[in-house]
Amino acid sequence: MSQTTPTAPAFVERNRTPYESVLDTVGWTPLIRLNKVTRGMRTPVYAKAEIFNPGGSVKDRIGLPIIERAEREGRLKPGGTVVEGTSGNTGVALAIAAVLRGYRCIFTMPDKMSQEKVRLLKAFGAEVIITPTAVPPDHPDSYVMMAKRIAKETPNAILADQFYNDANPEAHYATTGPELWEQTEGRITHFVAGAGTGGTVTGVGRYLKEKNPKVQIIVGDPQGSILAEYWRSHGANKVEGTPYKVEGIGQDKIPGTLDMGVIDEFQTVSDKEAFAMARRLTREEGLFAGGSSGLIGHVALNVARRINDSDALIVTVLCDTGERYLSKLYSDEWMRENQLLDTDRATVAHVLGTKEGSAPVIVSVVPGQTVRQALRLMSLHDVSQLPVMDGATCVGSVSDWSLSAKSLENAKVLDQTVSDIMDAPFPVVDAGHAVDAIVKLLSKSNPAVLVQDHGTIQGIVTRSDMLSFMMAR
Ligand SMILES: Cc1ncc(COP(=O)(O)O)c(C=O)c1O
Repeated sequence: MSQTTPTAPAFVERNRTPYESVLDTVGWTPLIRLNKVTRGMRTPVYAKAEIFNPGGSVKDRIGLPIIERAEREGRLKPGGTVVEGTSGNTGVALAIAAVLRGYRCIFTMPDKMSQEKVRLLKAFGAEVIITPTAVPPDHPDSYVMMAKRIAKETPNAILADQFYNDANPEAHYATTGPELWEQTEGRITHFVAGAGTGGTVTGVGRYLKEKNPKVQIIVGDPQGSILAEYWRSHGANKVEGTPYKVEGIGQDKIPGTLDMGVIDEFQTVSDKEAFAMARRLTREEGLFAGGSSGLIGHVALNVARRINDSDALIVTVLCDTGERYLSKLYSDEWMRENQLLDTDRATVAHVLGTKEGSAPVIVSVVPGQTVRQALRLMSLHDVSQLPVMDGATCVGSVSDWSLSAKSLENAKVLDQTVSDIMDAPFPVVDAGHAVDAIVKLLSKSNPAVLVQDHGTIQGIVTRSDMLSFMMAR
């Protein structure tokens, strides 16, 4: 028997020397080309994979700098407490730094955030206080106001204050920006990011613009956030925010850490588009990231298509790991409940597959049967219409509504054959047909379609079947 020598996979060399602590592994995240979702596009698009940070998000870059600044300024002393209103990722970043520096952490978090995020913070020993999402930002119960109050009332505590703390954009100016410049050898032409606190886009934007003022800074904003409109109207139009599902980016107030002056363009994206792209990044690129990464990726591809330039170099950001959203955008049930799954892709075969019941696949009559027999059959199987089949061909249709109306008018009709009074045959559609196209075929005068696969009738889809299917989705 021949023996093959096991060969080691050809991994790229990195991490050749040991680190003193996990904090030393923050930053210098890889820049990874997107190959599949960019199919057919000339413009190269790369993703700054912040999911490689030890806490799994871009926020790891600001955790330690915020704590170190408070230490330097004498505001945080040994045994102290770090308080923050955080949607989770900043909490993880602060918690990692706090664990290593020996501080206690208290985080407040709006209730729209995923359970995984709450559990994650608790895993690091942090205390988490959940606050209502549906309150104005200045309400005492909002997560920001609640964090402020706790920081004030707790001795030797600081508010990390990521929305107003300059250490946040400065961390990106000092790390993310220079990394991108070096990794692209100065060839970056477009940087696409989201803005939560605005720290990333402000710090990176300032750095890149200093290096090359022509670099375009583009922000993807969720539909419902106020940032894009504020920027477009130069601050004149202060619209009210509306709820959306993407986490971590967009705002209902303008953060102090966001410098609108570095931004060249805003694009507004829906939850549905954001989540669809996040799922594509995972399934097509093997990059498991959250909804904000999907939203920004969606914008990056829009830009790539628009500029159609092989000499350009677009960088998008993978802000945080998809593991934080397993019960949300990576759950088909949750996506369906929130009408976020693309129903266009559902086929008639799916509708047939979800039909329940003990009735035969298809109940039909032949042209020579009487109206009486047809009505009995419909009542027996509790259906409202029947195809009239001549062998494998649908030659007409009858409905209980039309048969009863005609029979009540003239009782003799009951003994007539269905071929005498039948209506037009039901359309026959292919099992692979999109549900949306079939919905348009169903009407009062055409209450059902027959479904065929490779020339054989597989079943019937009625208006009520379609309605049940749509309601279940
Ligand atoms: C998931 C996610 N994406 C993106 C961002 C945006 O980062 P920044 O606050 O630097 O604008 C955040 C920040 O909260 C985030 O949590």
